[in-house]
Amino acid sequence: MFKRFNKDEPIRAPSLVPDPAAAAAKAAAARAPSGPAKIKRKEKVAPIVDLEAESKEAKRRQKLLDIRMDLHKRLLETLNLSALDKASNDDLKREVLAITREGLREMGVVLNNADQEELTADLMHEVTGLGPLEPLLRDPTINDILVNGSQQIFVERGGKLELTQVKFKDERHLLRVIDKIVSAVGRRVDESQPYVDARLADGSRFNAMVPPCAVDGSLVSIRKFTKDKLSIDELINFGAFNEAMATYLQAAVATRLNIIVSGGTGSGKTTTLNALSGFIDNTERIVTIEDTAELQLQQIHVGRMESRPPNVEGKGEVSQRDLLRNALRMRPDRIIVGETRGNEVIDMLQAMNTGHDGSMTTIHANSARDAVARLENMIAMSGVEMPIKASRSQIASAVNLIVQVSRLQDGSRRMVSITEVTGMEGDIIQMQEIFKFQRRGIDENNKIVGSFVSCGLRSAYTERFEQWGFHLPTEIYAGGDL
Ligand SMILES: Nc1ncnc2c1ncn2[C@@H]1O[C@H](COP(=O)(O)OP(=O)(O)OP(=O)(O)O)[C@@H](O)[C@H]1O
Ligand SMILES: [Mg+2]
Repeated sequence: MFKRFNKDEPIRAPSLVPDPAAAAAKAAAARAPSGPAKIKRKEKVAPIVDLEAESKEAKRRQKLLDIRMDLHKRLLETLNLSALDKASNDDLKREVLAITREGLREMGVVLNNADQEELTADLMHEVTGLGPLEPLLRDPTINDILVNGSQQIFVERGGKLELTQVKFKDERHLLRVIDKIVSAVGRRVDESQPYVDARLADGSRFNAMVPPCAVDGSLVSIRKFTKDKLSIDELINFGAFNEAMATYLQAAVATRLNIIVSGGTGSGKTTTLNALSGFIDNTERIVTIEDTAELQLQQIHVGRMESRPPNVEGKGEVSQRDLLRNALRMRPDRIIVGETRGNEVIDMLQAMNTGHDGSMTTIHANSARDAVARLENMIAMSGVEMPIKASRSQIASAVNLIVQVSRLQDGSRRMVSITEVTGMEGDIIQMQEIFKFQRRGIDENNKIVGSFVSCGLRSAYTERFEQWGFHLPTEIYAGGDL
């Protein structure tokens, strides 16, 4: 358990207390020959595929799919749809079961119990939920669901993409489910408005793109909402960062540094932002601004805002920038913008510079340098005429810390760098990396081997930390493994 740093009594970060076992392991590792010889790759063995069994299973699934579509049609004809909302789940299930039995009898199909149960469950999902997607939405081990046309559904589990057996009957079936989702939130998706963002009833983030813009059938991406966002402790347990880094981050958040979490798609930016916000004091008023409300702050005083796209007539848009400007009139102590991606950047930086320090946001970039370049680009594209030096100095004085997260090739998500922005020298923004993840190779299970190291530089904010009562142990800056 990450023991929160107590401002008043200096402690040693727990991971810095020498652990004899770890020290012995480290010494053994140091003795082991280094270099490429350490890096083992698993031999790729072609899997033995039972083609006959596979095609039998595929045929069975196809048959079930056909029966299901047929029964689904009957259900819609027979069930009183307007009474659906009021019916209890048990009543509905009884009704669906009766119609299923009757339909199967009329079709002259005999199914075993397991198949019949699967069929009834599928039909219930068709009637009450999102059809074939429903079991995937309920599976807690799945983070993302990615539909590429009706026949191909991928999921992300444990950081890796897998192809599932789940399929839609055809494009029309898929479109019907998309339509159900978007019409529930008062949106429309068709040829004239071929893409849409929405939030599912359970809070999951949903995006769909339909033909003709989606070339081979509709594309759907769902980032599943997790009720229990990963906490600092869980992230430490998963190896996303370690306790020394957590201690530093706690001081950074508590002393109101402006922080940018940078990373690629699905690298864990929102999760990190959420976890960092856990270090904010309960007495502060926080305002959050997002395109799709995903953050779940634990504090009691939080005002959540969500932007809105224009309606079908192209009116009524409320952008993140509008929300940000409005937020400034709401007396926030801190502003958290879910992701900075457009012209709200100017207002964000200004807010950071003018009394709303301690603000945080995420940005889509591959390194701390890249994050700064992205900010510069966003300023340039926002239509504000500003010489490059002026926008750089704006960035340098607004941003204190860039936390880089990354999804590595073994599926693990890690904080790969914590970099401080220390000012300008001439035209160049100065930065110093304090901690990073040092990769060393790959083990026999194709897992990345490495450790978190401090880069040997003392934090430029040490004085500030001290003034606020955070006397961090100096060893964390000493360089080498943490
Ligand atoms: N360190 C971690 N270990 C394990 N799972 C993680 C970790 N960090 C994030 N995740 C999971 O990875 C998924 C993606 O995380 P998150 O939504 O934070 O990414 P993101 O960078 O904000 O994505 P996007 O670019 O789509 O906004 C989530 O389901 C989250 O629970
Ligand atoms: Mg995100």
